[in-house]
Amino acid sequence: MEALQHQVYGTDRIHNPGDAILAEQFLNHMKVFPQGQFIAVDTDHNRVVGVTVSMRVAFDPKHPRSLVEPWRITTDHAWISTHNPDGNWLYGVESAVHADYQGCGIGRELTDARRHVIRKLNLRGLVAGGTLKDYHRYHKRYTPEEYLRHVVAGEIFDTNLTKQFRMGFKPICIIPNYVGDPDTHGNAALMVWNNPDYHPERQPERVYPTRRTIGLTTRQTSPYLQTPTIHHDKSAKAGA
Ligand SMILES: CC(C)(COP(=O)(O)OP(=O)(O)OC[C@H]1O[C@@H](n2cnc3c(N)ncnc32)[C@H](O)[C@@H]1OP(=O)(O)O)[C@@H](O)C(=O)NCCC(=O)NCCS
Repeated sequence: MEALQHQVYGTDRIHNPGDAILAEQFLNHMKVFPQGQFIAVDTDHNRVVGVTVSMRVAFDPKHPRSLVEPWRITTDHAWISTHNPDGNWLYGVESAVHADYQGCGIGRELTDARRHVIRKLNLRGLVAGGTLKDYHRYHKRYTPEEYLRHVVAGEIFDTNLTKQFRMGFKPICIIPNYVGDPDTHGNAALMVWNNPDYHPERQPERVYPTRRTIGLTTRQTSPYLQTPTIHHDKSAKAGA
């Protein structure tokens, strides 16, 4: 999983860890909130090709400033010790798919796994920072806010944000200084997906870090518990 991070972000452990999540941090996620962690496995090659990391936060989209801060602060430098077991929203810490497998529906499948958790625990929804991955091409012409408007309008394709919006996220505002990635000039969009099945009369369910709290029809692959199994067939998807 750490290798996947370095592949996706062009980093390496020794010289340039950047904002990549390290192996020991992935292990810690399983101790803190195992119900929120998923990987996608190419079963033909027994290879991890996608990962998504989540935690819970107390959040109010009408007052979003609490999450307008650097990713490393929100996530405690990816250790997720900031996970709040009573949080009413799921926070998307990370979502990454191996470059050779992008565009095949794996990101969507991992996001759907998160939505399953949200419904199961009766959370308000999913909130995340979506990086402005291609902003470096437009930073002389547009402010981050203007760039975001063009992406939302479908006038600019952003290799990350456009996909996130296709998966149902709606942007709220820009988060400056979110990540170090120079392509983004530090910017992300704070974005939400509202759970249409949220029951306001019921409290969000509190879960403990045991391995049997949420029933998902998935395959167990160490070290992560709930694993959507992906059969990699890029040509079939492309032709569909
Ligand atoms: C963002 C990321 C996780 C998405 O994963 P993915 O497997 O490529 O996404 P999917 O193939 O499931 O596509 C998601 C949606 O975007 C759409 N999409 C994918 N590629 C597209 C393209 N080239 N043009 C237009 N839409 C596209 C898909 O159709 C899908 O929408 P749908 O389900 O309504 O059909 C992946 O691109 C990635 O790892 N990026 C690098 C790391 C990163 O930036 N992570 C996010 C940090 S905030």
